Amino acid sequence: MARAHVTLYPGSFDPPTNGHLDLIERGAKLFDRLIVAILRNEGKTSLFSVEERMEMLRESVKHLANVSVDSFDGLLVRYASDQGARVILRGIRAVSDYEFELQMALMNRKLEPGLETVFMLPGEAYSYLSSRLVKEIYRLGGDVGHLVPAVVVDRLKAKGSI
Ligand code: PNS
Repeated sequence: MARAHVTLYPGSFDPPTNGHLDLIERGAKLFDRLIVAILRNEGKTSLFSVEERMEMLRESVKHLANVSVDSFDGLLVRYASDQGARVILRGIRAVSDYEFELQMALMNRKLEPGLETVFMLPGEAYSYLSSRLVKEIYRLGGDVGHLVPAVVVDRLKAKGSI
């Protein structure tokens, strides 16, 4: 039997949003196995710990049999090679995402020519959604229930004011 193609969907996911979930669901239909990979970035202050983000993502993707959640540190291309992944999946919401994504994809290709980056578009309803805005809206007392999975709303409430 041919080996399953592994695809990585890397990111910060602080917190995961409905836009991330939309892309994961689209990716799960296209790829044999999808690993959602959270960057362990000690240098960046985050609202949720990596473990909290793993729990929220695992809860949100439990209906998808070919999707798993993991974390990584160091170079993405190295983690991809450790996992036997041949594809990196990234979402592009708007033109403004493109420049950063292009730079990252080309640099990753330079580092590891065998690894392809595939871009997908989330549903239009999520094109303005970001983890940063979710945190800002929640901090200012706005409703984020329609922007993130229910488990994220629960975890935000459990944190109280952020
Ligand atoms: O959700 P984000 O913050 O846009 O995700 C960015 C991420 C995690 C994909 C990117 O920062 C990354 O891959 N970091 C790992 C370190 C690395 O490989 N850096 C070189 C990238 S060209």
